[in-house]
Amino acid sequence: MKNLTVIHHPLIQRDITFLRDERTPNYQFRQTLSRIAGMMAFQVTKDFSVTEFSVETPLEKTEGYKLKENIIIVPVLRAGLGMVEGFLDVLPEAQVGHVGLYRNEETLQPVDYYSKFPKKLAKSLVILIDPMLATGGSATAALTFLKNKGAKNIRVVCLVAAPEGVKVVARHHPDVPIFCAVVDRELNEKGYILPGLGDAGDRIFGTEP
Ligand code: PRP
Ligand code: URA
Repeated sequence: MKNLTVIHHPLIQRDITFLRDERTPNYQFRQTLSRIAGMMAFQVTKDFSVTEFSVETPLEKTEGYKLKENIIIVPVLRAGLGMVEGFLDVLPEAQVGHVGLYRNEETLQPVDYYSKFPKKLAKSLVILIDPMLATGGSATAALTFLKNKGAKNIRVVCLVAAPEGVKVVARHHPDVPIFCAVVDRELNEKGYILPGLGDAGDRIFGTEP
């Protein structure tokens, strides 16, 4: 899977274990997901280009750096919202767009219900975030959506990926790099990732399946 980067880090492995644990309460699930997102952001941004400019320290002039690209973070509603703060902690200059999709639990097909993006989508580096990449239907639809709106330079960041989902996204969007923290074993008959962490949206927001 050449488009895929799995971000291995002991702190992320520890935190994913906490998310997997069914006893983890909603508020700790949210905090932990946000912390992992911030840690992943370091790896996802590691090849970003910078522009050099001068800055005056209290003592003398020296070189400084700022990010070259405009960055737009796009969470897939709802569960992607759980990763926004973590990304913004390390990318405070980023803008945020939203795409609302839910999976029809019978057909497993994504249904879109909302979208709103900053203007400079076509000229920005777009980071699509969603904790779960299961069948890949939602990510594939969100990427098509973003491309139809003009986005050209997109990366996908998820926490837990199923092998099936990675293959589907890579087949439909071979130009898009995918980052995840772990690739799990498989999907069950209802399209849930095994071992996974359950329904991410429900665990973030405390709703019932
Ligand atoms: C979850 C998850 C992804 C999608 C992944 O959202 O956050 O968006 O499922 O599944 P897929 O790869 O098979 O498409 P869900 O549909 O549960 O909506 P929610 O975030 O509103 O709970
Ligand atoms: N969406 C989730 O939230 N969890 C899964 O395991 C699959 C899709």
